[in-house]
Amino acid sequence: MSYHVRIHDRQQDKVYEADIDSDRYILDCLEDQGINLPFSCLNGACTACAMRVKSGQIDQHEVIGLSKTLQDEGYALICSSYALSDLDLETQDEDEVYRLQFGNFFAKQRRRWFQFGIPLDHD
Ligand code: FES
Repeated sequence: MSYHVRIHDRQQDKVYEADIDSDRYILDCLEDQGINLPFSCLNGACTACAMRVKSGQIDQHEVIGLSKTLQDEGYALICSSYALSDLDLETQDEDEVYRLQFGNFFAKQRRRWFQFGIPLDHD
């Protein structure tokens, strides 16, 4: 089955449209059609490929770097997810999803490093 995807690349001020297969990762399908969007790990962990889902349904069961809460709030990591319907997506602000997903964790850890020092092998 295939679905139609519209992507607003806000940083490049471009709109892309493509038909993608439901049994392949969204990002892979887009790249095969010459649509180049941000990515890094390609494992659903780093959030570089995050999109805001303006409409449509996405299967993110393989994603490990985005909480269920953020998925429910309308974010998706398209390198490791599948379309379940036609989609309307837009690129995130730089590091938007990274900060939402990991910001609180690192802020707490940094405080701990200042208190106790960074654990190193030779300590
Ligand atoms: S490229 Fe890292 S989560 Fe998609």
